[in-house]
Amino acid sequence: MAQISITVNGKARRGNVDPRLLLAHFLREHLRLTGTHIGCDTTQCGACTVLVDGRSAKSCTIFAVQADGSAVTTIEGLAPDGQLHPLQQGFWKSTGCSAGTARPA
Ligand code: FES
Repeated sequence: MAQISITVNGKARRGNVDPRLLLAHFLREHLRLTGTHIGCDTTQCGACTVLVDGRSAKSCTIFAVQADGSAVTTIEGLAPDGQLHPLQQGFWKSTGCSAGTARPA
């Protein structure tokens, strides 16, 4: 096991993880941030995309230990006040999909 410390959506988070644990699984299973999805097993769909230190990354291609010390933003971190992020608004308008947030009433 390896101890990691990652800032996720502005909050410091720690975990003891298997060195082979993917960042996507750390986010979903350890932190319960299920807005990050696993949509394929070929690293092509992008459903697992997060920001790592401000850069887009497929979290299914990164081990959680590789993100140690980084700042990660998930879809949940884009709309902290319940307002849709412009990216989410784009999904809303073009697909009717809320991309990780509940539809506003
Ligand atoms: S789950 Fe499809 S690219 Fe990561």
